[in-house]
Amino acid sequence: MMLEKAIEALRTGRPVLIYDGDYREAEADFVVRADAVTPGLVRWLRQNAGGLLCFVTTEEIGRALGLEFLSEYYRRLGLSVLPKYGDEPAFMGYVNHKKTKTGVRDSDKALTIRELARVVEMALSDPDRAKKTFVDEFYGPGHVPVLGARLGRRWGHTELSAILAKAAGLPPALAIIEVLGPSVDAMPYEEVEELAKSLGVPLLRGEELKALA
Ligand code: 5RP
Ligand code: CA
Ligand code: ZN
Repeated sequence: MMLEKAIEALRTGRPVLIYDGDYREAEADFVVRADAVTPGLVRWLRQNAGGLLCFVTTEEIGRALGLEFLSEYYRRLGLSVLPKYGDEPAFMGYVNHKKTKTGVRDSDKALTIRELARVVEMALSDPDRAKKTFVDEFYGPGHVPVLGARLGRRWGHTELSAILAKAAGLPPALAIIEVLGPSVDAMPYEEVEELAKSLGVPLLRGEELKALA
């Protein structure tokens, strides 16, 4: 069964594809556990996916680290915060680890993502220590977006990947990136299916994950 294969892949640090649904973005994102992200994997994702590489945790953990949704900030500026498909964005900030050089290169993004995973793991047992570590060891604005899952209230790739992590018994610390492919639009679902098959990557649809929540 595809869900079991996806759980196994996620646990062992291999990528999974999640397609949200025709009703929403109609996009597929690669999802990987954040503590397994290496510079080589970031390069692979940049070359094979090409979207925006983001770190996913939950809203609660983001807030425990002192972050707020960027939509709260933009709303205060008077800007609309709603994209065409309707969901308020999940962005809670952009950070780099202080040990990165510029933050944008693959090796830097891998470091930032792995260190964010360490902070999330810490936040699960000691939120105060995690917040101090986050403030001491990261700077912003940086090149890794932090997304906060609004579990039970929103059904984007942010939440769908967090649901998959929970089903796999993993902490909510993931890296996700949209598959754009060679065209100037997102890769159509039929091509995503072919890509998944050719790479041997499990492909899940939003509804399957929503059913687990
Ligand atoms: C960041 C995004 C992507 O759509 C990503 O998949 C996460 O967002 P969402 O939860 O809205 O799907 O906006 O590149
Ligand atoms: Ca989005
Ligand atoms: Zn998305």
